[in-house]
Amino acid sequence: MLSPNDSAPAYSRNAAPFLHGPESEAMIRAVEAGQYGHHDQTERFEAELAEFLGVADVVAVSRCTAAMHLALSAAGVGRGDEVVVPSQTFCATVHAIRAAGAVPRFADIDPDTQCVTAQTIAEAITADTRAVLPVHYGGRAVDLTSLKPRLDEERIAIVEDAAHSFGSRHLGGKRVGTTAALTCFSFGPIKTITSIEGGAIVPRDPREAERLRTVRLLGIRPKQAERIRSTHYPVDGVGLPYHLSAVHAAVGRVQLAHYRVVADQRRMLWQSYCTALADLEGVRLIDVDIARTVPFNAVVRVPDRDRVFARMKAAGIGVGVHYPPNHLQPAFRGWTRPRPLPATEATARELLSLPFHPAMTIHDVTAVVEVLATML
Ligand SMILES: Cc1ncc(COP(=O)(O)O)c(C=O)c1O
Repeated sequence: MLSPNDSAPAYSRNAAPFLHGPESEAMIRAVEAGQYGHHDQTERFEAELAEFLGVADVVAVSRCTAAMHLALSAAGVGRGDEVVVPSQTFCATVHAIRAAGAVPRFADIDPDTQCVTAQTIAEAITADTRAVLPVHYGGRAVDLTSLKPRLDEERIAIVEDAAHSFGSRHLGGKRVGTTAALTCFSFGPIKTITSIEGGAIVPRDPREAERLRTVRLLGIRPKQAERIRSTHYPVDGVGLPYHLSAVHAAVGRVQLAHYRVVADQRRMLWQSYCTALADLEGVRLIDVDIARTVPFNAVVRVPDRDRVFARMKAAGIGVGVHYPPNHLQPAFRGWTRPRPLPATEATARELLSLPFHPAMTIHDVTAVVEVLATML
């Protein structure tokens, strides 16, 4: 096991990729085989992801942002539609909605989990809502079971931003990606498994899978091997270069094979933070529902966050902020119909992400919490 940049203390980084060793060799093999685009490695990665999740099919793409753009389009979301989404997410979620031609309608969150709930989503739905896009913040699966009958009746699709939640489970035990929603994963550098950059969509049926595969490869349906045998190949519709290269897929396959090591380590670190923070007055750990979740981060709410952030940084602790709310971002302010988001706004100014990545040890967690305790 190794982590890049080993010389600095692990807690000096807020997050970091985690490599097991064979990734480099797998990548070199793909490079030497000349597999730079969509190739066999990509299809093997898709099959292994489907097997891991226990679903019929998975479509690999270049990133989770691309996955959400394609999934929203597959759900029929387009110009003039609204998509209900938390403001408390990475800006990529909102960009994907804009890329699909739709506008976000921001929903408030549960302050304890930083996730939308069935109720906050229900309150935001209008006659123009075509999809809801819950974000599994910190890895915690959002449960929309109670809202499902209304969504079905009003023909509103569920597209899940599961960038943080690969491997997590819903209430009832089903893995994220197996509840018949269009689920979008990220395999970016600091995710539970990484393909350096990458993502995937769990489609709802085989026809949708085929459509997604065509669109992610510039609308070209035949496989590369068939394409090069003919003087003509059909371009069957609008598409984008959203495919996952074989070099990335080769890394993702190694990471998937080592998933358990990282999942256990992430759970152990989160539990260690939970224990170490228990007696710290005024500090509240965002609850990821650890029994079902592979945590992506360890986020606390602290008073006077900006001062604590600056002092922790000065002390060499890799703190971060996930996320400044999107409804207040200059890029997104103009065209959204404003709604009150009291929990989002009240808690956003308190959020502090503590260092959290699998190369850390329990001693790193103790060191971080000891420093934090001196700053309150
Ligand atoms: C909540 C969330 N959604 C979407 C994304 C975008 O993922 P990608 O970088 O794979 O496009 C991220 C990336 O960190 C994220 O944290």
